[in-house]
Amino acid sequence: MTYARIAGTGSHLPERVLTNAELETLVDTSDEWIAERTGIRQRHIAAPGETTADLAEQAARKAMAAAGVEAAEIDLIVLGTTTPDLIFPSTACLVQARLGANGCAAFDVNAACSGFLYALSVANQFVRGGVARCALVIGAETLSRMLDWSDRSTCVLFGDGAGAVVLKPDAETGILSTHLHADGAYRHLLYNPVGVSAGFRDEKNHGVRVMMTGNDVFKVAVKTLDAVVEETLAANGLPKSAIDWLIPHQANLRIIAATARRLEMPMERVVVTVDRHGNTSAASVPLALDEAVRSGRVRRGDMLLLEAFGGGFTWGSALLRF
Ligand code: COA
Repeated sequence: MTYARIAGTGSHLPERVLTNAELETLVDTSDEWIAERTGIRQRHIAAPGETTADLAEQAARKAMAAAGVEAAEIDLIVLGTTTPDLIFPSTACLVQARLGANGCAAFDVNAACSGFLYALSVANQFVRGGVARCALVIGAETLSRMLDWSDRSTCVLFGDGAGAVVLKPDAETGILSTHLHADGAYRHLLYNPVGVSAGFRDEKNHGVRVMMTGNDVFKVAVKTLDAVVEETLAANGLPKSAIDWLIPHQANLRIIAATARRLEMPMERVVVTVDRHGNTSAASVPLALDEAVRSGRVRRGDMLLLEAFGGGFTWGSALLRF
């Protein structure tokens, strides 16, 4: 049996930090409201001209260095994003050219905030099946470009960043299972109303922006994440106590805490970055993973449960031995 194992992790955040106090000067909000309802205190925002591919490239280089792999060894790049640099070529192709990994398969996956879990799951199949021997999996976003900065109900929630992992075959352990789901019936609760085929302005003449019914998203997120973590444990015949670390999507501290409660995990075993990163969509899980690895908290051999939920709705999980 061949597993796909994470050989190295990396991440990158834009330099500019936007605090809740600064947001108070933009919209009618307060540090207290944002921190209490979401757990967010600050987020990173890409500089003018700094793109998703820029952030992805930096994260990828760090993951490759951690894994000790050269660009020529990479035979697959899967990149989760909902904020690509261009409509085409894919951001994966842009990153591939910069890294000099030319010739291998490279494509984007759009599953909104679940993008990294979807990308990881796809790459896992390639490595397990023997089709790829060195896969680069990236989650990268510049959500700040998609926000209506006059809408306090959404602009306080998101941030920019990128995270990446290198997957290599391992005879002993690695990714044990992945579980992906989607339900397009919920599309109206969290979406961007414009695009290529629908037109770049909506009927109200609005351009690109995040439309969200926050309360309803919250409720479905908690319910579906509960279900997917139960599904993951059942599929592997493992008790809750087998998990060393929960590495959740970083949208809202209250959603994270609800999943931790379901798993009977103390918050000390949950990796939390939402306070400093905000919701970086597809980048949030690999950013949290890399931070936990580099700080020495997550160690080789630990059992990790990764999960995410996002627009679509999409949601998913991965159980892996690091
Ligand atoms: N600052 C101050 N007040 C705000 C605000 C802000 N940034 N945003 C909304 N409010 C107000 C609302 O207008 C509302 O006022 P009203 O009662 O006078 O109408 C009040 O706060 C409560 O709004 P509500 O939306 O019910 O708050 P909430 O407790 O549900 O928290 C979210 C809002 C968005 C933080 C929460 O619903 C959430 O996190 N949802 C999930 C979002 C998410 O995770 N999305 C991404 C999934 S990947």
